[in-house]
Amino acid sequence: MNKELVIVIDFGGQYNQLVARRVRECNVYCEIYSYKTDLDKIKAMNPRGIILTGGPDSCYAEGAATCSAELFSMGIPVLGLCYGAQMMMFVLGGKVEKAPVREYGKTEVMVDTGSPLFYNVSPATICWMSHNDYISETAPGFEIIAHTADCPVAAVQDQERELYAIQFHPEVLHTSEGSRMLHNFVRGICGCSGNWRMDSFVKESVDAIRRKVGNGKVLCALSGGVDSSVAAVLLSRAVGSQLTCVFVDHGLLRKNEGDEVEAVFGPDGNYDLNFIRVNAQKRFYEKLQGVEEPERKRKIIGEEFIRVFEEEAKKIGSVDFLVQGTIYPDVVESGLGGESAVIKSHHNVGGLPECVDFKEIIEPLRSLFKDEVRKVGLELGIPEYLVYRQPFPGPGLGIRIIGEVTAEKVKIVQDADAIYREEIANAGLDRSINQYFAALTNMRSVGVMGDERTYDYAIALRAVSTVDFMTAESAQIPYEVLQKVTSRIINEVGHVNRVLYDVTSKPPGTIEFE
Ligand code: XMP
Repeated sequence: MNKELVIVIDFGGQYNQLVARRVRECNVYCEIYSYKTDLDKIKAMNPRGIILTGGPDSCYAEGAATCSAELFSMGIPVLGLCYGAQMMMFVLGGKVEKAPVREYGKTEVMVDTGSPLFYNVSPATICWMSHNDYISETAPGFEIIAHTADCPVAAVQDQERELYAIQFHPEVLHTSEGSRMLHNFVRGICGCSGNWRMDSFVKESVDAIRRKVGNGKVLCALSGGVDSSVAAVLLSRAVGSQLTCVFVDHGLLRKNEGDEVEAVFGPDGNYDLNFIRVNAQKRFYEKLQGVEEPERKRKIIGEEFIRVFEEEAKKIGSVDFLVQGTIYPDVVESGLGGESAVIKSHHNVGGLPECVDFKEIIEPLRSLFKDEVRKVGLELGIPEYLVYRQPFPGPGLGIRIIGEVTAEKVKIVQDADAIYREEIANAGLDRSINQYFAALTNMRSVGVMGDERTYDYAIALRAVSTVDFMTAESAQIPYEVLQKVTSRIINEVGHVNRVLYDVTSKPPGTIEFE
C-alpha cells in the first residue's frame, strides 16, 4: 500500500500512544519512534507529517530530551504538543521558562479560527492543559494563534514552513475539539487522504501473507482471546488449511469457553484451518496440586503450557512459520518503538518460539492498536462476542483462585463468574466496564442457610474501569446489580455463602488477585 505515514516522536509523555491512536482515527497510518531515533532514518521513511509529543523534562534543563533544528527544515509539516511545542520554540530561538502560574486541567482557550490548525474549531474551546513551563517568547517567524487567561502563547504557527505548536493536549478527550485539531493537521496541513482503513488492511495483509508463506506450513497457538483469534482468522483467510491452530484447554478457562472456541474454530466452525484441541485439564490440575504460592502457580501453568504445545508441535513436525498475536502496544512497550519503555511482565507465549522447529515468525497484527484489531476482527466476520471479549490472563482462573487450585474450586469460580457476567450484560454494562470477573478467595466463613449453619467460601467480585490496565479504578456498579449477582451466586453455586465486592484501585491493588 502507498502508506501515508505520520510519525509521532516520543519524548516520554504519558499520552503518547494516545496521540498515535487519534491520528489513526483520522484514517492516517502512524508510528511512534523515540526522540533518539536518527534523523536520516526518519527522513528515509518519507513521512507526510511529524508530531512531537509531550514529555516530563524542562527543555532548557541540561540533559533534557531534545531534537535537532534540522527536523524543522526538512519541508515536512511538524506539530509540537506541550513539551514538543516548547522544544520547537526553544530549538528555533524562542524562550521557555518556568510559568508564573502552573496550568493544569480543563482550560478555556481562545483560538484564531483563521489558522488551518483550528479550522472549524470554536473560537473559545475547552482544552486539557498540563504544564509547569511556558513559552515566554515565540521563535522568529512564528505568530500566536491561541491564548488563555494565564498563558499568552497557547499555540503558534509559521504557515510558510508548516510548523505548528500547541501547549495543550489535543489527544485527550478532555480537549473537546482535539480530534478536529489533529484531523486538521494530518488531513488538512499534511494533506493525507486518509487511506488507512481496516478493509484495505485485511486485503493487503492477506496478499502479503500469501506472498510470504507460499506453500509453507503455518502453526498458531490459539487461546480464544481477541488477538490470537484475529491473527488465526487472517492467516486462515490467506492460506487456509496450510494453517494449523493448536488450542490448549488447560482447564482454567471460563465456563464453557473451551467448547465455544471449538465451536468457532473447530471442524463444525466457519474457518478453513486445521484445529487441534488438547484437553490437558488433568495434567494442569495435577501439576498445581498442593501449590499455593502465586508466582509458582504462574510458572507451572506457563511451563506446562509450553510442554503441551511442544508435544503437539512435534506431532505436526517441522513447520515454516509460527504465528504470534503481538500488537502495537506490545511493540512500543517493549521499548522497540517509542520512549516509554514499560517492560511487560505478562508473556503468555514467550517460550513458544524455542520449543517449535520453525523458520520465521509471522506477526500480522504488529502494527495495530487493540481497537483496530477488533475492527479487523469484525471485518473478518468473527462473532462479536469474541471480538469484544474482555482481557483474560494466560494463567486463567489459576490466578483467580487464591491458594491451591483444584477441579472443585475451578467449577465454583466458573459458575460464579458466569452468573456475574450474565447479570452485567443484563444490566447493559458489559461494554462500559473494561474488565470484570469473579475470584475465589481462600477464606471460608460461617453463614446460615435455612436452619443450617454453613462454613463455606467467599467469592470476590472485581470490576475495573481503566484505559491502559496499568492503573485502574474500581467500577461503580449499581447496588441492585450487585445484590442480584450476590443472591444468584449464593443460591445457584454450591459451597459459597458470602460475596464480597472489591473496591480497591490499582495501585495499590492489582486487577487480578495473584
Ligand atoms: P494486573 O493483575 O497486573 O493485570 O493488574 C493487568 C492486566 O493484565 C492481565 N494479566 C495478564 N495477562 N497474562 C496475561 O496475558 C498474565 O499472566 C496476566 N496477568 C494479568 C489482567 O487480566 C489485566 O487485564
